[in-house]
Amino acid sequence: MTATYKVINATDYSDSFGERDAFALDVLVGLSETRKSIPSKYLYDARGSELFREITKLTEYYPTNCELEILENRSTALAEYVSGRPFNLVELGAGFGRKTRILLGRFAELDLDFRYVPIDISESAMDGLVAELTDKLPNVEAGGLVSDYFNGLKWLNNRDDRLNFVLFLGSSIGNFSHNESRVFLRNLWNCLNHGDIVLIGFDLKKDIELLLHAYNDSRGVTQEFNLNLLRRINRELGGHFDIDKFRHFGTYDVFSGGMESYLVSLERQTVYIDMIGRSFTFAPWEPIHTEYSYKYLIPEIEHLALETGFSVATHYFDSRRFFTDSVWRVEKPRPST
Ligand SMILES: C[S@@+](CC[C@H](N)C(=O)[O-])C[C@H]1O[C@@H](n2cnc3c(N)ncnc32)[C@H](O)[C@@H]1O
Repeated sequence: MTATYKVINATDYSDSFGERDAFALDVLVGLSETRKSIPSKYLYDARGSELFREITKLTEYYPTNCELEILENRSTALAEYVSGRPFNLVELGAGFGRKTRILLGRFAELDLDFRYVPIDISESAMDGLVAELTDKLPNVEAGGLVSDYFNGLKWLNNRDDRLNFVLFLGSSIGNFSHNESRVFLRNLWNCLNHGDIVLIGFDLKKDIELLLHAYNDSRGVTQEFNLNLLRRINRELGGHFDIDKFRHFGTYDVFSGGMESYLVSLERQTVYIDMIGRSFTFAPWEPIHTEYSYKYLIPEIEHLALETGFSVATHYFDSRRFFTDSVWRVEKPRPST
């Protein structure tokens, strides 16, 4: 069997406003704010996805090893939530799917009746993922979607009524503020049916030194990942950023529990972006916010589940209790008879 994918693009929505226009608009809005920012999803072009893959292999970046350990130990237990019924194994922001292959391999060994649907905005990550699947797990039926999370889910849900088992790994939920996570999870709830299962990776609050090392690695890969955003603006929007005039800065806010990534301007400078048709001025040491990575406590996770319409089935931890993969069930009111 060959794994495939479909690119969900503007034509699927009869919308003439393309990806690049959306990128330009988000950059215009973000760089016009008093506190400049650019949405973190733009970190993942082909180069950014490759750099993120490198980050996940760094010893300082503990979340990947924690989640690998959890999935290795718990994939059989996870199968029990869905065995005996055909289901879609949907993965939001699948990336290269390195960890998911453990789960796919186990589910295939157990002969479960499932179809794997990875969803990711990065086409290059999807290319890599389907090539690996075709090579390593040729018996797994897989049809990926290159799309934003929710356009992918909507596309899927208009097509079938199987049980859904949704994976949202890698602590990607932490990239949303607490308010945005509530909105995201409620949107997810809207797209799903009563009894569907969601497995979400949450990075837990821990020693601050460990966090700072994880997001400021000694080889400078995270720095490259972050600076690549300016390179992407130069490439795709005709930006004129001089990359050497910015530095990466990763810090932890003890009040919000969030790691925060910034690109900091090293001097006063004005940068023109051709596709936007205007320039942006940066004061010396002025930051552009590029990413949050919020850390959680278990009661905060349970509260979030309850608030957004899910019940918590269990939390699986790694041996150091740095990370949890939390299993939630969609709860919907039953229609009265
Ligand atoms: C932090 S990485 C996690 C990758 C992988 N799940 C893991 O655990 O290693 C986030 C992934 O989500 C994708 N992504 C980010 N924002 C997205 C969005 N709005 N819609 C779809 N995919 C998105 C990125 O391309 C990237 O592959």
